[in-house]
Amino acid sequence: MQLAIIGTGYVGLVTGTCFAETGNNVMCIDIDENKVNKLKQGKTPIYEPGLEVLLERNIKENRLQFTTDINTGISGAKVIFLALPTPPGKDGSADLQYVLDVAAALSKIITTYTVIVNKSTVPVGTAEKVHAVLSQHLDPSLFDVVSNPEFLREGVAVEDFLKPDRIVIGTESEKAKKVMDELYQPYIRQGNPIYFMDPRSSEMTKYAANSYLAMRISFMNEMANLCERAGANVDWVRIGMGSDSRIGKRFLFPGIGYGGSCFPKDVKALAFTAQEMDYDYAIINTVMQVNDRQKLILGQKVRNYFGSDLSTFKFALWGLAFKPETDDIRDAPALDLINELLAAGASVTVFDPEAMENVKQIFGNKIQYAESQYAALTDAHALIVVTEWSEFRNPDFDRIATALVHPCIFDGRNVYSLEKMNELGFYYESIGRKT
Ligand code: UGA
Repeated sequence: MQLAIIGTGYVGLVTGTCFAETGNNVMCIDIDENKVNKLKQGKTPIYEPGLEVLLERNIKENRLQFTTDINTGISGAKVIFLALPTPPGKDGSADLQYVLDVAAALSKIITTYTVIVNKSTVPVGTAEKVHAVLSQHLDPSLFDVVSNPEFLREGVAVEDFLKPDRIVIGTESEKAKKVMDELYQPYIRQGNPIYFMDPRSSEMTKYAANSYLAMRISFMNEMANLCERAGANVDWVRIGMGSDSRIGKRFLFPGIGYGGSCFPKDVKALAFTAQEMDYDYAIINTVMQVNDRQKLILGQKVRNYFGSDLSTFKFALWGLAFKPETDDIRDAPALDLINELLAAGASVTVFDPEAMENVKQIFGNKIQYAESQYAALTDAHALIVVTEWSEFRNPDFDRIATALVHPCIFDGRNVYSLEKMNELGFYYESIGRKT
């Protein structure tokens, strides 16, 4: 099938590349000329495991192309995906400007029946808004607008796309349903379903899924804080409760708050939607408050131990990305922690396998950037583990103890065992487990 993807951000690029992988002809369109030129050479602007190999292969096979020209780019496309940014406005609402501008442009160039798909996470009612914009210049028989939210996790996005748990499609048009069904059949070989529903339910499903997961994390973060006070160990509590099949074991890991480009934005947008509809979605408001508080927990622990004036102390941070296997630092708890440490006068040296360049853009020479995880430790008074990259899980603890001024670790992701830390003589603090 001939497809066009407008927007080559994280979602658009993964979507376009994975559709090409199953034999479709895909044209990716973006206004950023630099990005398009790099992509044409098979270079991804983001770090996403497995993506570059697929990108190179599909470019070579002529199934995947890139352009800045929307007019020629959409020519012949049976389906056009909108994978455009929907940044949060000051009030938390999702800004639809990019989506609606592109819809307006499309309304003047589409000439044959086309399915227009909202792939970006957009508030309930957006499919109707896009439909209204397109209708200004286009006969409604020439298009359908479909909602098709993505459920891709950064770091495993390619796998999530190729083997999805489910595909959600919001449309009431039989014609559009048929096209979307044909397009997605290759991805449901393992029996996972395509759910067809109305566009509003489909749009809400995305917010419900992300907000529920964010709520689970906030619940566990509060449970961890309570465990610390009650002398319980959240690791055991997590295992004990997660073994109930109604609860499940995944996504119950406490830490220093959720981050990334999705959860914070989507939870806020859901709260805004509720407010617009005059509904007090109390849990959702609390999820946000709890997360803001949790992001400050590690900094507080450090200050409780070293004192509120940190000007004579140096700290080594391992991990900056909002989670492992990505270079994404959007809303990453590491940023709040660095700001907190700097405000208390501390010196900070950081190391992350992928996210250093992005952090440099924000902090410049206010902090130091180490060449390796061990180089970060030299003369530091404590190691602070912020992101649970695999390479931090089983480090050389003797080397850590020797490099640090005192053997002291603050672990924001509970990656080390309490027994081992005791045995090795580290002063060790983590989340929801006794010191
Ligand atoms: C999330 C969803 O998981 C995807 O399904 C969704 O498609 C995507 O948002 C999106 O809307 O585009 P992602 O933001 O890549 O994916 O990250 P997650 O792996 O879900 O993690 C989000 C945050 O929760 C991270 O900061 C992570 O450290 C934190 N987390 C996760 C915990 O603190 N504890 C856990 O047990 C799990």
